[in-house]
Amino acid sequence: MGSILASVGTLLWVGVWMSAFSITTADDNSAPKAENVRWMSLDFTTILTWTAQPSSHSFTVQYSIDENDWTESPDCIRTSETTCDMTEQLKHYDKPCRADIQTEHPDEVDYDVENLPHTYSPLINPYRESNISAAEFSVQQLNETTVLVNITDPLTAIHKRNKQLSIRDILQKDLQYKISYYKYQSTRKRDVESLTSTAEISGLDPGQSYCFMVAAYIPSRARANQNGASSLEQCTEGSRGILQELSAGAWVGVIFLIVIIIIILVTVITLCCRKTNRNKSLQSTQLSAPV
Ligand SMILES: *[C@@H]1O[C@H](CO)[C@@H](O)[C@H](O)[C@H]1NC(C)=O
Ligand SMILES: *[C@@H]1O[C@H](CO)[C@@H](O)[C@H](O)[C@H]1NC(C)=O
Ligand SMILES: *[C@@H]1O[C@H](CO)[C@@H](O)[C@H](O)[C@H]1NC(C)=O
Repeated sequence: MGSILASVGTLLWVGVWMSAFSITTADDNSAPKAENVRWMSLDFTTILTWTAQPSSHSFTVQYSIDENDWTESPDCIRTSETTCDMTEQLKHYDKPCRADIQTEHPDEVDYDVENLPHTYSPLINPYRESNISAAEFSVQQLNETTVLVNITDPLTAIHKRNKQLSIRDILQKDLQYKISYYKYQSTRKRDVESLTSTAEISGLDPGQSYCFMVAAYIPSRARANQNGASSLEQCTEGSRGILQELSAGAWVGVIFLIVIIIIILVTVITLCCRKTNRNKSLQSTQLSAPV
């Protein structure tokens, strides 16, 4: 009996010891690895994002151009965030860059880099892959057949000598715009490519309203990255009065209405005139009676 109790006791101890062991191993293993590492880049603002199991570990991001020397990204050393803004580090290059996200041990003194996980990012070259947002623009009628489309290049978050750079400052001659337009109520769309941010569009039908849309276009890039987002459309007034809007059918209706109105007017007027005439003659007979 006593020996059975003793062995149960030993078993319990072994169990406790083993679960404690597994907890500590789990703790060691739980240095979280950066996962789902992605680049997001819009107008050359380039941000590395990842996910990780919550823990007391932090992350340090290194990057490398052409996979040569690795440099720490100054804003992302022992960060507890799971994003890293790398706009500044990547702004100079038209080259593919890779980042490496290293999990750091919470205890700065005693850590063993070899055992901590790290994750490489996919390659990115913002010059060729950054998405371009929709551009603002205005349309000005120069004369009956020509308009001036004036596009404002979207701004980037990059500054140089206290000036905020636009996408034109970065892409320069590689930046073109696609201007699409169509005549109001027509389904035929036309595309014009413009090397500059202002473009004259001529050969329009006089007096007609036209609608315009613009999007950045970078033909030097791979096809999937060539087109910026499309702007909202803007339409010219034309001399689009009520008269021009009406179709042939509507015109027939209008003329028919006018004819009817004229007929009604003429009938009413003649009826009224006869009535007053009869009243006048009646009055004159009444007036003459007592005399
Ligand atoms: C650009 O936009 C597309 C579509 O929204 C998206 O799938 C892609 O990941 C974006 N690229 C970058 C580098 O942000
Ligand atoms: C309209 O203006 C454009 C550019 O200013 C010019 O080339 C064109 O001849 C003008 N057309 C008319 C009909 O005045
Ligand atoms: C285009 O618009 C900007 C302001 O949005 C203005 O400063 C510039 O002079 C315009 N360009 C032309 C050619 O009208």
